[in-house]
Amino acid sequence: MSSPYGWGLIGPGRFAREFADELRRAGRAKCVSVASRNIEKSSSFANEFGFTRAYGSYEEIVTDNEVDIIYVVVPHVFHRKIAEMALNAGKAVLCEKPLTTSFADSKALIELARERGLFLMEAMKTGFLPAIKQAKKWIDSGEIGDPKILKADFCFSGPSDPEDRLMNASLGGGALLDVGVYPVFLAQHLFGDIESAQAEGTLTHTGVEDSCVISTRHRSGGIGALSCSFRSNDEAMDATILGTEGSIEIPVFHKANRAILKRNGTPVETYQADQSGMVYAEIESVMDALDHNLIECPGHTHSDTLNLAKTIDQIRSAILQQGEIP
Ligand SMILES: NC(=O)c1ccc[n+]([C@@H]2O[C@H](COP(=O)([O-])OP(=O)(O)OC[C@H]3O[C@@H](n4cnc5c(N)ncnc54)[C@H](OP(=O)(O)O)[C@@H]3O)[C@@H](O)[C@H]2O)c1
Repeated sequence: MSSPYGWGLIGPGRFAREFADELRRAGRAKCVSVASRNIEKSSSFANEFGFTRAYGSYEEIVTDNEVDIIYVVVPHVFHRKIAEMALNAGKAVLCEKPLTTSFADSKALIELARERGLFLMEAMKTGFLPAIKQAKKWIDSGEIGDPKILKADFCFSGPSDPEDRLMNASLGGGALLDVGVYPVFLAQHLFGDIESAQAEGTLTHTGVEDSCVISTRHRSGGIGALSCSFRSNDEAMDATILGTEGSIEIPVFHKANRAILKRNGTPVETYQADQSGMVYAEIESVMDALDHNLIECPGHTHSDTLNLAKTIDQIRSAILQQGEIP
């Protein structure tokens, strides 16, 4: 086993709890420190999840000598500034999705990491999941013939409090940046580069998009039919890939642990992953990349992040321009 890595977490909020729970199970990850703007909050999080130290500011944690990698899990609008601070302090960075709120900001952040020769990765967990890897293997080996259509949704019932980060434009709100990135990522990951994308969306009274439908055309010849919403009474989070000789179903694709290969609508193979969790494989891949002194992760490269950001920018600006604030 290679040497352990010290992890520091910035932003002990909602998702941080799920991540920390899996981080402490990753054998060679050392849960070193947590930073919040409130020391009581970081202390209680550190106690609960087994971190050694707590800080009451984000500035302090990046100077912690035992921390090798900083995990940034705050609202999207703050990703760039905090990741820059960590990189400038010489730390590797795993930053939650989307890396930043725009292609231009993501490009600038990646350039900084490359200039400094430091690891930087957008925490897009989905591509690391064994069930998604299996689906990709089936597609790439021709099990479904020519892949034609990829359908993927990420719709759920979300908050209506205008101050919530999903509703609040100044916190980078909107369905696209929060959950729309997943279906667009899946389409890019399984069907390859996106050649063009079209979208329709509806806006909330706070001026962010709450629901979007997106179509994508890929250089490989496949097309995508995607949606995202935080105003859906029912949950829709599955993906289906239709090919000329078969199809693949991926229930709850963003954190999938199962993929089903079908021919003529009948299951012929079911892949069931173990119960290791939804970010465990991503965490291990980060440490594998660090073992090899890489500054990007082969499983989700800088150009994967930038390609995704370019499509999201394009869709988002089209929706915000055409949409009417009710
Ligand atoms: N990979 C996944 O599956 C997944 C799932 C959910 C979310 N995410 C991503 O994780 C990030 C955080 O999401 P979340 O739902 O965990 O967020 P959240 O609970 O709303 O906020 C996380 C933390 O951000 C900090 N923060 C800093 N400045 C803030 C401000 N001005 N307003 C509010 N909070 C502020 C707060 O920490 P302190 O007050 O302690 O400083 C807060 O606890 C987002 O970028 C999201 O896209 C990823």
